[in-house]
Amino acid sequence: MTQAKIRVALLFGGRSGEHAISAATAAGVLRAIDRDKYDVIPVGITREGRWVVASGDPARWELRPDRLPEVTEEAGAEVMLSSSSGSPQLQVLEPGAVPAVLAQVDVVFPVLHGPFGEDGTVQGLLELADVRYVGSGVLASAVGMDKQYMKLVFAAHGLPVGPFVVVTPRDWAQRRDDVLTKVVGLRLPVFVKPARAGSSLGVTRVDDLADLERAITAAQRHDPKVLVEEGIEGREIECGVLGGRGGAAPRASVAGEIVVDHAARDFYDFEAKYLDDGPVRLETPADLPAGVSERVRELAVAAFEAVGAEGIARVDVFVTPQGEVVLNEINTMPGFTPISMYPRMWQASGLAYPDLIDELVQLALERPTGLR
Ligand SMILES: Nc1ncnc2c1ncn2[C@@H]1O[C@H](COP(=O)(O)OP(=O)(O)O)[C@@H](O)[C@H]1O
Ligand SMILES: [Mg+2]
Repeated sequence: MTQAKIRVALLFGGRSGEHAISAATAAGVLRAIDRDKYDVIPVGITREGRWVVASGDPARWELRPDRLPEVTEEAGAEVMLSSSSGSPQLQVLEPGAVPAVLAQVDVVFPVLHGPFGEDGTVQGLLELADVRYVGSGVLASAVGMDKQYMKLVFAAHGLPVGPFVVVTPRDWAQRRDDVLTKVVGLRLPVFVKPARAGSSLGVTRVDDLADLERAITAAQRHDPKVLVEEGIEGREIECGVLGGRGGAAPRASVAGEIVVDHAARDFYDFEAKYLDDGPVRLETPADLPAGVSERVRELAVAAFEAVGAEGIARVDVFVTPQGEVVLNEINTMPGFTPISMYPRMWQASGLAYPDLIDELVQLALERPTGLR
């Protein structure tokens, strides 16, 4: 007797500015997931937030410089997650028809980045449906998405973060002078960024305070809440964290380095991340003194545990010329195409991309639903 395959609903696209990146991740997973073991049900989320039956053809979702992939409603019928029958299932909704069962679902893999995907909202929906899913739960996702609370949680755990100022819409409208006074206390350059975005969307490096206002307005296009951070001079180092199996401690990959050619680009911005492979090189493993890379890996696990992350996260740090390690951020659903940093760091640590996908799904399956 052959054993039934495990049904994985792959959720991608979504309402955030990182819609296309999520689709590209889906392409990677669709290509590499073990089809002998898993049945994949691709579910796209449109920019408006509608769930639709989506193509399972990886080529449809690949990221190309001339075309950002996008989930549109053309693809198909609306999909809904339901557990009213006692077990989680995806239903197809056709206008005027009784909802039909598309598939029973064993586990959901939400390869969603940014707000309404990586921030605990979709995770809340999955909790309510009582379905197992890959990655962090509601709280860790929300904390990991919000750079203000992320830093507060890190700092409360005694983990090193740089100085920053939060600018809420009310601060900006009613207390602009206070904001400016605080920002003047930060060493230049500063980095102005949306509190809850990703992929460097809306991030500006400001070398002259005359440009601050414009940078804040640019960040506010992505999020009404903005952070102004002191620029940290240092190498950009990242580390992959995987949850432990069977209650074991989280595991850290080797560290990787983002090497940006600063003559070509100011910093690791959106184009440098996805479209332009000239000025950026990803080095795995990063060439660091052993003590420093050990510190990075310890800090990555500490950051993962500080926010209560589960399954997967990438922790990004700066390593200063003095060898000091400062946290930049945690990403609870990092870019996950085969050429993204997270899979590459695991590849360099001995875990190939298809095995990494398998590991993530297995971690999700072994974890109970409900409070953990
Ligand atoms: N405080 C900082 N000091 C130096 N560089 C920074 C700082 N904050 C951001 N950057 C640069 O901007 C990039 C994007 O910022 P980040 O906070 O990581 O936002 P995102 O969540 O969009 O990736 C970083 O990879 C880095 O190149
Ligand atoms: Mg980043």
